[in-house]
Amino acid sequence: MSGDKIKNSKFWPVLKPFLGIAAAVFINIFFNRLMGRFHIPLFMDNIGTLLAAGLGGYLPGIITGYMTNVVNMTADIENVYYASLSVLIAVAGSFFYKRGYFDKFGKALITVPAFAAIGGALGSFLTYCIYGFGMGEGISAPFASRLLEKGIFNVFTAQFVSDVAIDLVDKFLTVLAVFLILKVIPTRIKDSMGLYAWRQNPISKDDRAKIKKDTIKGIPLGVKITMVVALFMIIIAFVTTSISCILYHSFAMEQLSTPGITLETIRLSEVSFLAKVLSLFIGFFLMILALSVWLARYFVIYPINAMTLVAERFAYDTEKDRAKSVDSVKKLDIRTRDEIENLYSAMSLMMEESVEHMEYIKKKGEEISKMQNGLINVLADVVESRDQKTGHHIKKTAAYTRYILKSMKEDGLHADIITPEYIENVANSAPLHDLGKIVVSDMILNKNGRLDDAEFEKMKSHTLAGRDIIKKTMELAPDPGYLEEAEKLATYHHEKWDGSGYPMGIHGGDIPLSARVMAIADVLDALLSKRSYKEPYSFEEAVRIIQEGSGKHFDPEIVDVFMHHIDGIKEIADSMDKDL
Ligand SMILES: [Fe+2]
Ligand SMILES: [Fe+2]
Repeated sequence: MSGDKIKNSKFWPVLKPFLGIAAAVFINIFFNRLMGRFHIPLFMDNIGTLLAAGLGGYLPGIITGYMTNVVNMTADIENVYYASLSVLIAVAGSFFYKRGYFDKFGKALITVPAFAAIGGALGSFLTYCIYGFGMGEGISAPFASRLLEKGIFNVFTAQFVSDVAIDLVDKFLTVLAVFLILKVIPTRIKDSMGLYAWRQNPISKDDRAKIKKDTIKGIPLGVKITMVVALFMIIIAFVTTSISCILYHSFAMEQLSTPGITLETIRLSEVSFLAKVLSLFIGFFLMILALSVWLARYFVIYPINAMTLVAERFAYDTEKDRAKSVDSVKKLDIRTRDEIENLYSAMSLMMEESVEHMEYIKKKGEEISKMQNGLINVLADVVESRDQKTGHHIKKTAAYTRYILKSMKEDGLHADIITPEYIENVANSAPLHDLGKIVVSDMILNKNGRLDDAEFEKMKSHTLAGRDIIKKTMELAPDPGYLEEAEKLATYHHEKWDGSGYPMGIHGGDIPLSARVMAIADVLDALLSKRSYKEPYSFEEAVRIIQEGSGKHFDPEIVDVFMHHIDGIKEIADSMDKDL
């Protein structure tokens, strides 16, 4: 198999960390044996561990550290008892690497005392216990013996001082080697070394930071898992250590009869035994903990956080937003092959279906409102068809009303009321303003010549009749919407600014704005149209009459806007005459 084939195979993600860890263990052993070969009193067995901890993360670092000591057992069985120290160095190494301590040599130097504290100070304490509060046999032993001979130090301090001194040199050289190796490795390769196990499209670093910052009401899942695993490991450690100590003790006591073995030697050997067992456990404990957290992260925590994130960011506003949101859910591509994946699939399906459903409801809503408009317009048409002489009065007044309102918006008049939605509502309502004429008899409606007083009174009643019909319709409609404006138009379109209109005789600002606009549109069309009792006025004459009515019949502000946009009004009047 060629290199590329291996990299593309499905075993590569599993093979890669194994190879990486094996290489790191090899580096550790190689340098360590090299020191031994040349009788240099240094360990140099952490270079691979720190590289693995930095490039791969906590887990590969810890495994490398532990495995190095296990392999080194072949040289000296005592090595395995120091595995916990290698594991602690891996934890510290990963911690420092993540915070950029290995980016600059000055910063990397700061890590030396920390590593020496673990390897030297803690190591010395461990040696002291393992050797029954006595002198160890490692590479620091000759120095410690010499210090002891000087008579200033006791066994512990002599060993401690020499261990820390040797470790400071050892860890300085280790950090230097790690720093140089990291400098040589290209960034692209360094970035590809992390031991990730994404079961989805990875969440970006920024998003991960954001999730961390977001407040979780209780304890985060990662902390809970760590706590539970730690608690059980401590219980297991306590129980097994206790049992083995009891067994060891009873076994040791049987040896009391052997010459040279006293209670004191048994006590010291027990201390040594306990130190060894605890050290083994600490290394093992950290390894299991790192593995659990690592698995929980990639199989549970990250997938759940990613789902939370896309759900929070799900936008329903526009069709584009919805499509993008559904897409972002699909892009997560969570494939943990367990309950989490089921949850993801269900959530993904639910979001997709809810969006589809939403589109359907929106379409239906549009259809309903179209139908509502259509029905009302049909009603208005029926009324108009009875009134044979008005000549498309409804369509023309609606066009004028829309145009005047748009002009008012353009000129900034009543900006708080006149929104695009308001213009739409009023323009859609305009055809209904004379709806009440349905109660006026054909005889009056189509009478040739002027109406007498009684007939005119009957004619006037079309305003309130229209209002009542619309009110009834509103009671039936689930969303009356623009009918509210229709009711105002029907009721008040014959009111006058000075209060001399009908049916209420209200004046000025008391007349709803839409009705004040409608009044101008209504009169303009009446003036421009032929009636049984009059010929149509010319556009100029009609405009003059409206101007004269400013402040009397009409709202002067609206007349001003009307005059300001008179060219547009003329265009509508001309085009309507041509079209109809
Ligand atoms: Fe009317
Ligand atoms: Fe009218």
